[in-house]
Amino acid sequence: MRVLWVAVVATAATVCSASPWTGCPSTPTWPPGVDNNVTSPDQDWDVLNLMFNALSTMQDTYFERWVGTWPEGNDWTRAVINTHVVAALRTITDELNRKRPGAGDGECSITDKHHLIAGYFADVIAYYFGEDAFAIRRQAYDDMLWVVLSWLESIQFVKEHGNLLSPSRLGSPSGITAWYGDRWTPAFAHRSRIFWELAAGGWDTKLCGGGMIWSPHVLPYKNAVTNELFISASIAMYLHFPGDANNSPFGDGSGSDDASNAKFYWQPRDPVFGKAAQNAHTWLTASNMTNDQGLYTDGFHISGLDSGNTRCDERNEMVYTYNQGVILSGLLGLYQATGHERYLDEGHSLIENVIHATGFDLARCRPFDMVNDDDAAITTKEKSSPLRRSTHKLPPWRGLGRLGILEDACDASGTCSQDGQTFKSIWMHHFAKFCAPTSLLKLKDTYSKSAHDVRARHRARCQRYIPWLRRNAHAALGTRDEKGLFGMWWTVGLFAEGVTVEEVEEVEKGDRYSGRWPKGAMDYRNLGVPGGRGWMPEDEFPSTEQDVSSSSASGTETDSELESQKAEKSSGGRRAGQKPLASRDLDARDVSGATRDEEQGTAGTASWDPNLRGRGRTLETQAGGLAVLRALWVVSGNE
Ligand SMILES: *[C@@H]1O[C@H](CO)[C@@H](O)[C@H](O)[C@H]1NC(C)=O
Ligand SMILES: *[C@@H]1O[C@H](CO)[C@@H](O)[C@H](O)[C@H]1NC(C)=O
Repeated sequence: MRVLWVAVVATAATVCSASPWTGCPSTPTWPPGVDNNVTSPDQDWDVLNLMFNALSTMQDTYFERWVGTWPEGNDWTRAVINTHVVAALRTITDELNRKRPGAGDGECSITDKHHLIAGYFADVIAYYFGEDAFAIRRQAYDDMLWVVLSWLESIQFVKEHGNLLSPSRLGSPSGITAWYGDRWTPAFAHRSRIFWELAAGGWDTKLCGGGMIWSPHVLPYKNAVTNELFISASIAMYLHFPGDANNSPFGDGSGSDDASNAKFYWQPRDPVFGKAAQNAHTWLTASNMTNDQGLYTDGFHISGLDSGNTRCDERNEMVYTYNQGVILSGLLGLYQATGHERYLDEGHSLIENVIHATGFDLARCRPFDMVNDDDAAITTKEKSSPLRRSTHKLPPWRGLGRLGILEDACDASGTCSQDGQTFKSIWMHHFAKFCAPTSLLKLKDTYSKSAHDVRARHRARCQRYIPWLRRNAHAALGTRDEKGLFGMWWTVGLFAEGVTVEEVEEVEKGDRYSGRWPKGAMDYRNLGVPGGRGWMPEDEFPSTEQDVSSSSASGTETDSELESQKAEKSSGGRRAGQKPLASRDLDARDVSGATRDEEQGTAGTASWDPNLRGRGRTLETQAGGLAVLRALWVVSGNE
């Protein structure tokens, strides 16, 4: 059952006041390199600067231009990272277009900023060739759909940035006449279309009355992320795909998906895309995939396939942040395409459920678990120092975090895999899209009374999330090391004085009972896909794999997570007996080196950094920092 929090909407706006923005930053503080200091919480922090720093740090640290990729990524995380890069460039472009109050032309020279943007756009083009498109073709359907989203994002960026640079806008006929970005649109469109078509092969009507299957390489598993991706990618294809006349045969010769069978010429606004999105949405909402906190569980197995069962009847209760995120951009797109406000309502309900599950009370604009005297202060000035104090420093898990900060279950134990390290960034990306103040503009009936009303309601609801979002951004900023690299477990960034080993051990104990890994959950994204029931045909595996869901009932799941994480690392990224699902498992290597495994500091010292555990700081955790800052900048434009 979905929990509805609409009843609390009315009171919040008055409680949560948000501070005004400083406007477009003046030239000396942007480009970056300065003012990275947010250890002083009262400082007027400039989110756009911080976002740009997160981007440039990510690219300068992890992107290798000579190979046009982030070598430490894997195929699907790279597609997501590319999306984050382009989205950040879109945000900067958008900012230049919008000209916030206080941003005179002199302060925010378009051509200066254009050079910064173009530099990182060159990375995007390099990655077009650095992307291993052939490998991804043979991976799971969700892997393919990240690729679609990434290049559709690029198409939109190119268009918006091109508008910014139009001669009329620059007021100079002798200035830049056409931006080279436009020339790449057909290539991006082609790759989007190819991968959408490949992924659409995952739609299946024989089982569960419809829905995408996750992967052709395991037993049928109909999961949240693949279906949400299919909704979001399909509606984005409908809205933003500019057509594709390139029939280049990237077929593998098997005949099933090569060019001879593909549609020859694709027009924009092909109803095939819109219908696919609507069908998938209808199926997903009827699939019973949400739990009693109103959060998407991971997906469904089909029990007794051999005996002819076709019903999705074995739910994996695992809850991940990204499963609550991807659908948000799909819902926005469905609204944009149809004008039905119910899609927006559905998105807001989900966001409210997520925020609630982080332990944040939207009605009172404060975390549930902060019960000390300082709480009054955070409601009015929530970025100030009392935020960092609480009697229960690290209270227990609330379903998707604690203390009002978003967490995945693997964060607190430092056991996230490369997949798991990417999830929060994805939530933030799709949330930002959903709540961008411009998200409901540019529709056909933009100026009608009803569209105006819908926009006002949407905007008011998005506004309510800003203090929570700011709190998350603040926490994430607190995890940066001296190089500006963000950590995985944002919550600890709230504590200027750090946390101790003992405090984290206490949290681990508490979470065993509050269910960070719920009963019936299999954390295959962090543990790897096990052999055995539901995942692999029995006869392919000796029955040595443990069923995590049975151990979670006995309260030992944290230990088993840690054990298997260790086993995974020592076996080069794979658990013993685990079949390689796709090449991504094989290149999900930990290139951070052994030193990151060594936990620093000793028990009891405040300088202990829990974000050095496990895979440590990575490309993917950096993307998390970038995405939360971008979300804050974008969504706070509603203020
Ligand atoms: C950061 O801010 C604090 C408090 O204002 C200050 O004491 C510290 O010197 C600053 N650090 C840097 C690197 O500027
Ligand atoms: C929905 O899923 C839950 C958890 O698996 C199950 O208990 C419940 O019976 C299902 N409801 C329906 C209508 O299938």
